[in-house]
Amino acid sequence: MADTVLLGLDVGGSSIKAGLVDVDRGQTVTALQVIPTPSPSTPEAVLQICAGVDRQLGASGPVGLAFPSVIQHGVARTAANVDHAWLGFAGGERLSALIGRPVEFINDADAAGIAEVTAGAARGVRGVVMLLTFGTGIGSALFIDGELVPNTELGHMEFHGVDAERIASARERTAERLDYEQWCARVNDYLARLHALFWPDLFIIGGSISEDFEQYRHLLKSPTEIRRAAYGAQAGVVGAAFAALRAQRRAAAASARAVP
Ligand code: BGC
Repeated sequence: MADTVLLGLDVGGSSIKAGLVDVDRGQTVTALQVIPTPSPSTPEAVLQICAGVDRQLGASGPVGLAFPSVIQHGVARTAANVDHAWLGFAGGERLSALIGRPVEFINDADAAGIAEVTAGAARGVRGVVMLLTFGTGIGSALFIDGELVPNTELGHMEFHGVDAERIASARERTAERLDYEQWCARVNDYLARLHALFWPDLFIIGGSISEDFEQYRHLLKSPTEIRRAAYGAQAGVVGAAFAALRAQRRAAAASARAVP
């Protein structure tokens, strides 16, 4: 397989998405695989599935693993919608041991943002870009002139006395049977708070619900321009693969510098 075709994995609270991504063209080359997240979603249960997908797709080279948690220096630091056994767990290291190749472990919204900034809705956009993913939780990714500020976790910003994701995530929309008008009223309120605090130049709406963007785009209101994630529900998978490529290039540059 071409060394520019890499596996991207995007673990979510309800499903694990996977696909081979041509990182030169910024496109998936296999249909997106969607596997239910095991319950309980312990590290070993999740990573055995990831290793199985890697084998099944015959992937080679580094792998990107996007995960719904703060990932600080390779270690999961929070576990809002996954098993608490992930707290303090080095998920990339473990998957790397299972498959025998390097793994880049990053936050899922940061991965989606990397896809959009590199080759999607925010390609070439300067200034402050904020991507929000609406799914089981709300993920956020913040970029300044294309550079990521990792782990922003704005889904946990206090909003009407609780975490914002308990009010405006796609899961809440389903659980409370909100129609798009009701859900967008909540999202608009949330975007207004974010606008007041960050003054972004662009909001990108991502997550699975972005696939239906045309049904509710007229209901979304903000002084900031709003775009749909160009990669839709695939953004995490594509961004994870981009992140794996970047990590590989960084490692290669560091080892080249180390040679006397
Ligand atoms: C998690 C974030 C994640 C988001 C979307 C939140 O509950 O804390 O890390 O990016 O859900 O999955």
